[in-house]
Amino acid sequence: MDPSELDVSELEQLAAERLDPLGYSYVFRGSGDEVTLADNVAAWQRLKLRPHVLRDVSAVTTATTVLGTSVGTPVLVAPTAMHRFASPDGELATARAAAAVGTLMVVSMAATFSLEEIAKVAPGAPHWQQMYMVRDRGLTRALAERTRDAGYQAIVATVDGAAVPLRRGLEGGVLVPPPDFRFPNLAPPALADSSDLIGMISETDPAMSFDDLASFGEWSGLPVVVKGVVRGDDAARCVDAGAAAIAVSNHGGRQLDGCVATADALADVVDAVGGRAEVYVDGGIRNGRDVTKALALGARAVMVGRPIVWALAAFGEDGVRGVVRRLTTDLERTMAFCGAASLDDLTRDLVTR
Ligand code: GLV
Repeated sequence: MDPSELDVSELEQLAAERLDPLGYSYVFRGSGDEVTLADNVAAWQRLKLRPHVLRDVSAVTTATTVLGTSVGTPVLVAPTAMHRFASPDGELATARAAAAVGTLMVVSMAATFSLEEIAKVAPGAPHWQQMYMVRDRGLTRALAERTRDAGYQAIVATVDGAAVPLRRGLEGGVLVPPPDFRFPNLAPPALADSSDLIGMISETDPAMSFDDLASFGEWSGLPVVVKGVVRGDDAARCVDAGAAAIAVSNHGGRQLDGCVATADALADVVDAVGGRAEVYVDGGIRNGRDVTKALALGARAVMVGRPIVWALAAFGEDGVRGVVRRLTTDLERTMAFCGAASLDDLTRDLVTR
């Protein structure tokens, strides 16, 4: 079967059957009452398209750039942890697939392969590295320097981790990873590995403020994407503090339950940023119509999280290639229906409530 012929919901179903119970709970579930988890999906569905007709759409292109890097599709791979739950090759399979379909992968700080190994299996492909600011700034600094040295193009600083969430379906609300999982991106300098995911999560620094954002760039010399912002006022302050891009995200409904859906938060952030930085969005994106709505509201690209992991669990590397292709061909089809030949033609008037 060609995975690109399957809808994301079909991949979701297959993944539910294939992941072990711990992997299932970790990947699928959210925090609190999972209101935000569901609303992220519903909010894109609530938005409707107002298509243009009679525009020349004989040649539709989805090519764009993110922070100056060319990508064939605005469907980027969101940072998600522990791809080993989905495949023994974990993030290596994801990275190879992302490179094959011309997109960019954001590697999780809690990846089960090192950022250097991931770069090596997809030479020439663009990568960004996600990280938290941990209390021991030296650890975050070491990771930022490794990111630079491995040739990554940007740092994605996640800022929605001010407290440890209670996750559904996990004992005590917290994941205890399988004992054979390793987290080489969490390793302190001079150690190759760490198995201490819980330690890292509880070390995320709740004292972090806007003043700390510049450190990521100072340590790495790379542009900084601030991920986990859902308010225009905060987004503007991040840009004032030097952010090159904002990723509108509520962490896939995994942190603050009851948080506004990202589809509902996006326009405020785009307006507040006012073109001074790029804006991306993740959360609940399940088809090319959702991507179209996101770009019409002003996102430059979207990031997809769970659908990538579902595809990896269902079909390995082929699945990840397939799901990005599926989302991209559905985007092309939707663009044609909307009279948009390029992503620049996706303007806000195409969307209504
Ligand atoms: C990690 O960031 C998670 O959402 O589990």
